[in-house]
Amino acid sequence: MTSTLPTLPTPASDGLAVVLGGSGGIGAALVAQLQAQGVEVLALGRRTQPALDYTDEASIAACAQHVADRLALTGLPLQRLIVATGFLHGDTASGQRAEPERSWQHLNTDALQHSFLINAIGPALVMRHFLPLLPRQGRCVAAFLSARVGSIGDNRLGGWYGYRASKAALNQLAHSAAIELARRNRQALCVVLHPGTVDTTLSQPFAKTGLDVRPPNVAAQELLQVMDTLPEGSNGGFFDHHGTSVPW
Ligand SMILES: NC(=O)c1ccc[n+]([C@@H]2O[C@H](COP(=O)([O-])OP(=O)(O)OC[C@H]3O[C@@H](n4cnc5c(N)ncnc54)[C@H](OP(=O)(O)O)[C@@H]3O)[C@@H](O)[C@H]2O)c1
Repeated sequence: MTSTLPTLPTPASDGLAVVLGGSGGIGAALVAQLQAQGVEVLALGRRTQPALDYTDEASIAACAQHVADRLALTGLPLQRLIVATGFLHGDTASGQRAEPERSWQHLNTDALQHSFLINAIGPALVMRHFLPLLPRQGRCVAAFLSARVGSIGDNRLGGWYGYRASKAALNQLAHSAAIELARRNRQALCVVLHPGTVDTTLSQPFAKTGLDVRPPNVAAQELLQVMDTLPEGSNGGFFDHHGTSVPW
């Protein structure tokens, strides 16, 4: 069943926005868009101080402490937590090259481990360390960027085993976290979002003609609009950049 969200904006009140992966294609556009809206934003990534690197679990805890310190200093609530990290192709933690698998013949331990580390395990540890920083009352949103190809129900082409499977794992992790989060704050939302195909280094080698490839600033505007207009009952859901629910 699909549903389209209402267009009425319900802007979040003043608060801090944290973007993890703030130097990525979509992450940087989200930071710029939030700043343009006058929102106070904290961007964290592998090149920030402190650095956030999913290959180093302690860095995730250190970044969460950095955010906690900022919240205490400013008295602001953590209104938006956006996790814009992800891995599709490139160098793995062990320095080997990984590309999306076109066949089961291409499956290998190193690439699978790295996909799961960056797309599922890192975000899971973000849930552990950052979700407790969300306010105990009032609306707040934790959004994890996933991908429609992580949908099992929508998988008609196969391939991209590691990316698809690690995003499906992320979806399940976020859904469980949403249930736990609701016990702390019934107005808090934890969702997974599909940004659509966006012109970044992640998608560039695979963006075929005919696909609706959008610039990062457009994707960022759409994602923020979706986050700000998610209606009650959206907690634990999987939505695309139009706010339409995606099958699991
Ligand atoms: N672009 C698309 O068409 C598309 C479509 C569907 C879903 N998505 C999803 O949207 C999200 C953002 O994608 P994007 O297109 O903006 O990709 P991107 O430009 O490649 O950005 C990926 C981000 O992940 C971070 N990252 C990679 N390895 C990391 C590690 N070990 N520790 C911490 N951070 C790490 C990168 O940090 P550095 O800057 O330090 O490398 C970067 O900030 C991803 O979850 C992706 O799967 C994108």
